[in-house]
Order: sequence, then C-alpha cells, then structure tokens
Amino acid sequence: MFLSPEGRAAGEAVLGWMREAGMQAGLDTMGNAVGRYEGERAGLPCLMLGSHLDTVRDAGKYDGMLGVISAIECVDTLNKQKKRLPFAIEVIGFGDEEGVRFGTTLLGSRAIAGTLAPEVLETKDPGGTSIAQALIQFGLNPEHLSKVKRKKSEVLAYAELHIEQGPVLEAEGLPVGVVTAINGFSRLRVTLRGEAGHAGTVPMALRRDALAGAAECIVMMERVAKSVPELVGTVGRIEAKPGAINVIPGEVQFTVDVRSPLDSVRQEAVADVKSEIARIAAGRKIRADIESLQDFGSSACAPWLMRQLERAVEARGVRVRRLPSGAGHDGMAIKAIADIAMLFVRCKGGVSHNPAESISEEDARVGAAVLFDFIHEFEPLSA
Ligand code: GLV
Ligand code: MN
Ligand code: MN
Repeated sequence: MFLSPEGRAAGEAVLGWMREAGMQAGLDTMGNAVGRYEGERAGLPCLMLGSHLDTVRDAGKYDGMLGVISAIECVDTLNKQKKRLPFAIEVIGFGDEEGVRFGTTLLGSRAIAGTLAPEVLETKDPGGTSIAQALIQFGLNPEHLSKVKRKKSEVLAYAELHIEQGPVLEAEGLPVGVVTAINGFSRLRVTLRGEAGHAGTVPMALRRDALAGAAECIVMMERVAKSVPELVGTVGRIEAKPGAINVIPGEVQFTVDVRSPLDSVRQEAVADVKSEIARIAAGRKIRADIESLQDFGSSACAPWLMRQLERAVEARGVRVRRLPSGAGHDGMAIKAIADIAMLFVRCKGGVSHNPAESISEEDARVGAAVLFDFIHEFEPLSA
C-alpha cells in the first residue's frame, strides 16, 4: 500500500538494487523510487523505464514489480559490460499505481508527468488521512510536489514491461506480446443513505435499507456492463454502516470501476449507471451521492516505439503478437510527457490481482532479454 511501512521497505530494497546496478538512486517527493544511469555524458535526456511498487490487497508478486526488477536487471547488465548509451536510462518504481489506499490511482506517475493537481493531495484514505498528511508522516514534503515533474525534453520515451494479467499470450503459446493501447477507466464512489433501524421491529415495507439498495445498484451495474462487448464493470469495495447483524444498514459506500477500449462506450455506460442509481435510490426513498474519483481515456502506444519493441521480440525468435491492455498502467499518466510502449509477459492461467498470479522463469528471462535489446538498440524519434 502507498506510503505504508511495507511500501517503504519495498522502496528501500529497490533503491539498493538500483545502486548495485550502477545507478544514482533516491526517493522523490511522491515516494517514487527513481534510479538514473547516465549515458555517454552526464545530463542527457533519458529513456524512462519502470512500473509500480504498490500492490492491490492480496496481490500477486509480479504485477508492477516485474517491470521494475527487469529494468534494473537490464541496467545492471549494461553496467557490468561498462557500456554507456547515447542517452541516460531512468528506472522508476512508482509509489502508487493501484490507487488502493486513496481510491484515486496513478499518483506516482501523475506527479512525474506534472498532471497531479495539488488539490488531489487532500484526498483521504478510509482512515481519514489525506495524501498530504501521509506524505508528511512518511518524511516527504508535499509542498515540493512540483519538483517531481519532468519536462518533455528530459524524456525520450517511456517503456514498461508488465505481466499480461490475462490469458491471451498463454492461449497462443507466446512468452511476450506488444501492447497496442491501454483501455480507459472511470472510477466512482457511491454513498447511499437510508435509515438505520431495528432488524426485528421495522416491517419490510417501511424500511429504507441502504445495503439492499446497493445490492440492486450492483446488479444493475453488472447488467449495463454485460450489454456491450468488451465493456467491463466492477464493484470492488463496499462498506455498510453501522455493520451489525441486527441493524438495518443506514449508510453504504461502494466503488464502481468501468472500463472499455472505447472512451465513448465507457462514458455512456457511466452515464447510464449514474442515472440508474438515482432511479433506484428514489424508488427506495434513499439518498444517493455519486463522486467521480477518476476518468482516464484510452491510451495508445506509439507506433514508432512498438516497431522498435517488435524488432526486439523478433530478434529473440518470437512471433510478434499485438494486444490491448485491459488493465491500467503508469504509461497512461506518463504519456502526457512522453510516447509510451509496453511489453507483456505471459501470465499463468491469466490470473492476476490474486496471490496465485504467476509467470515462468523462462518467460521472465525472455521478457528481460527483449527489454534489454530494445534499450540497447533504442533510437529516439528525432535522431
Ligand atoms: C491496475 O492494476 C488497474 O488496472 O486497476
Ligand atoms: Mn494491478
Ligand atoms: Mn500493474
């Protein structure tokens, strides 16, 4: 979890590995672990690599971390070969990508892209701690947020290796694939307020049960999501208050996550879900407040970078498979300052966001080797 003791331990381990690989490394003000390997001379623009260090609850161990470790491994190889390239390499372990703690995601990469509005730092976790307070407790100074921002001229491109988190590469017998675009997402927080009451005394017709209302909303959301191919919708978190076996729930809060490759489809689905929640709430005489936590449009990978990545895949004797990403990634934020590319590594059984998430050692090797060749042969667009 972002800015947690475990997050600190992960960040420190990663900074140690970055230094062992010959990089200058430190935490930035947003808690990102940043390592830099200079090019042929100091101060050159960089090829930015990386992924995130935070995880979801009960996560697998590859989502995020695999991309950070693989990138460090590539730099370590260059360093051992005493090789400097005509550009610098920066490896970033983003402090927050998942958004589990604060509900709003990509905090680390948005800070680096300079698109994180200072007001976002007032967002609170379920315990009432704001991002700004959490940064201070972590020993970081939120007033320095703007110093984290990188200029377009400093970043030649961004490339991320990531576990696929889906079944496509496995089904086709391929160790790696090249991402075409990252699906957009919308996140909502819905609060329903009815009336708490005695579970034994209030007749069914007189209840204003917020949790029964939420149940109706969830089933409605599922129906909306199933109505269009490739549209997906999830309620991943729900909390009922006061939360006792013999009390009618008076207040419920739940999250909604909607995604689609097409922004128009996603936006239409979100509008439908919002109006249906209002209708369901009115019918039950409960109040509904819907807060939009985040909207991200679909993010295309840059064709010129995909071509270079595909050359690296082919050089390892692997057939090139292009595929979209259903999951969100840091590149969605970084694309505000640089073109992006992503390499997916085959995932066992397509299982992710689950402790059973797994990859084979051989596939991890192929992924890192492709990333290494891509870095080694990388040609910036303007060259
Ligand atoms: C990140 O894993 C996301 O897609 O939610
Ligand atoms: Mn994830
Ligand atoms: Mn991830």
